[in-house]
Parts: sequence; C-alpha cells; structure tokens
Amino acid sequence: MAKYRIAWLPGDGIGIEVLEAARVVLDRVGLDAEYIHGDIGWEFWRTEGEAFPKRTIDLLKNVDAAMFGAITSKPAKAAELELVSGLRGTGLQYRSPIVRMRQLFDLYVCLRPCKAYAGNPLNYKENLDLVIFRENTEDLYAGVEFNPVPAELAETLKKLSKPFGAFAGLAPEDYAVSCKVNTRKGSERIVRAAFEFARNFGRKKVTVVHKANVVRATDGLFLEVAREVAKGYPEIAMDEANIDAMTMWLLKNPFNYDVLVAPNLYGDIVSDLCAQMVGGLGFGCSGNIGDKLAVFEPTHGSAPKYAGQYKVNPIATILAAKMMLDWLGETGLGSQLEQAVSAVIAAGKVRTYDMGGSAKTLEMANAIAAEIAAV
Ligand code: IPM
Ligand code: MG
Repeated sequence: MAKYRIAWLPGDGIGIEVLEAARVVLDRVGLDAEYIHGDIGWEFWRTEGEAFPKRTIDLLKNVDAAMFGAITSKPAKAAELELVSGLRGTGLQYRSPIVRMRQLFDLYVCLRPCKAYAGNPLNYKENLDLVIFRENTEDLYAGVEFNPVPAELAETLKKLSKPFGAFAGLAPEDYAVSCKVNTRKGSERIVRAAFEFARNFGRKKVTVVHKANVVRATDGLFLEVAREVAKGYPEIAMDEANIDAMTMWLLKNPFNYDVLVAPNLYGDIVSDLCAQMVGGLGFGCSGNIGDKLAVFEPTHGSAPKYAGQYKVNPIATILAAKMMLDWLGETGLGSQLEQAVSAVIAAGKVRTYDMGGSAKTLEMANAIAAEIAAV
C-alpha cells in the first residue's frame, strides 16, 4: 500500500493540463502515493446540477491531502442557462465548489507564499518573499446573501439599524444584501497561524490587513483579536494596514512587508497583487489548510480560452505540489522540488509564453523533472 492517499481533482479548463504537469514532477521526486481521481467542475454542474458531487466530497473524507486544478465559475444566471434541459428551471443554484470545499472541510487557512525566484523575467523586484495568510471560510464568502431581499429581513434591519433607513423604502428586487460574517474564533485561528508561521520560520513581522476605519463591526473584531494574539509573540513585530493603502505601499515599499494576514476578501485581493509581483498567475500557489485535510491549488483560474492548448505555465501548480509535500511532512522532497524549479527559472532556457518563451506546459514540467536528482 502506498504511504499517502491523494485526491486528484483536475477540474476543467487548464486545470487538467497543469495537474498533469504537477504529476510529472511528483512522480519524479518519487512521492509514495496513490492518486485517486475525483470528479469536480463545470461539466458536472451542467449534466448533474452539481459541480462538486457527493462522491467527491466522500473521497475527500478519506484522503491525506488533495491537489486541485481549476474550475470555471459563472454568475448565477449564466450558470443556470448552461444546465442540460432536464435540470434547467428546477431551482438549482451554482456555488463555487472551491469555496464550498473550504467551508465543508473547514480549510480555514489559505496560505499563499509569493516568492520571486531569481532570474524570473516577470519579477517586479528580485528577492521578494512575501507570505499571505488569508482567512478562508467566512467574511464576505460566508454565503449569507439575499437578492431579492426578503421583507422579513428588511423589517428587522429597519428596527435594528439606523443607516438601513436609507434603503428601507426600496422594492425587494431593487437591492441586494451580502452579509460579511466574521467570528472571533475564525479571526483568532488565522492570525495565530500567521504568527506561528512567523515564529517557526524566523520571520520578523506580521502585517494585519483590514478596513476597520469603515467596516467597524467585522474588521474591528478582526483587528481587536489580532492585537490580542500578537501579545503572545513579543519577538515578532505586528503592523496594521488598511487594505486600500496596503495595495499602494506594497508596490512602493515591498520590502517593508513579510507575512500578511487578512480576512477572506482582502486576502483574495492582496494575494493577486502579490502573485503579480513575483511573476503573475503562472507563479501564484495556494494551500487551503485545515486541521485534518489540506487542498493545494494554483491561485489562477481555469482560463477556458487556453484550455487544451498545453500552453500555460505549470509552475504555480508545481509549487502547490511542493506545498503539499511540506504539509505531508516530506520536506526533503519539497525542497528538492523547489530547488529544481528555481534552477530552471535561473537558467532561463525553458520559458513558457508568459515568461517570453515558447515552451509548452509539459516541456516546463519535464525540464523541472530533469533537474531533480534521480531517486
Ligand atoms: C481564489 C479565487 C477564488 C476565490 C474563486 C475562484 C472563487 O479567486 O482562490 O483566490 O475568490 O477565493
Ligand atoms: Mg482570488
């Protein structure tokens, strides 16, 4: 029996190609694993009305970790139109499978390292090495949303909230409400994860990203909890920044930052910015980590326009596989893999189109595999 059971969830679009590339490299480092395919993605939404079928949920209950490619998602009305005829008009609602997966399995840490590998022509600056901790289960992603707004909710809000008066006269279909829900527990554990990481890896500073000057209730709570948690880590500096200012400062003084921690949506935003600073979508990798399960993925989407062309850069997914190796405790294999990625980037001979080259997805994977010492 193999040492690890890994769920293999390619999804759709370029998800399929980049996962194939990651597998070349995982096989080369010789991870002792059984990979079990799981159905997920747009095809299953269209034909079954469920992009994340129960059989895949069950699979995830019974594995050590998972690799996930990418999935196409569309707004509610467009998604409904693509259902096969028997399912259309039956009230099915599309919800992003990755967001559901994060909630269902309580994968509360979204870890997004953004490191500039030397010689990458896409680096904004050399030597950048930022690590983002994004809360992954609550905030504006909680899924508590209303459109149209039920009269019952409007009545209650009218009683409880003075500012709601400005909207109280609107017809239910003329406005929408998305609730930002942040809990003390959810805030505490993500901030603690960031500080623990800083402590374990010798990082000097954790910056808490928020907008507590305006979004007082939820971000106020996040910040209050963060200040409390920080007291337990006196050797690590704690810094606070509003999300808007943060995006400017990151570009202006990127070396002032080290580890960032943020509620879900700000973390989503700031992680795209940081990924761009170290090469863009081809380099952004992500771990969705809970206490029992972790799912690793590239930060990029399914890029349907490139699907099937084997053209996109697989490095983001290969670095996600490196994160998986580390999480499994196979840090030796993880660093072999990272050194190989780093060597291929530094040599500059094999480059995908985004890096200004003409190598295809699997050529890049093979070049990385060739750098890995035979096991
Ligand atoms: C990400 C993505 C997802 C998110 C989408 C695909 C639902 O942007 O992982 O950052 O918003 O979390
Ligand atoms: Mg995102």
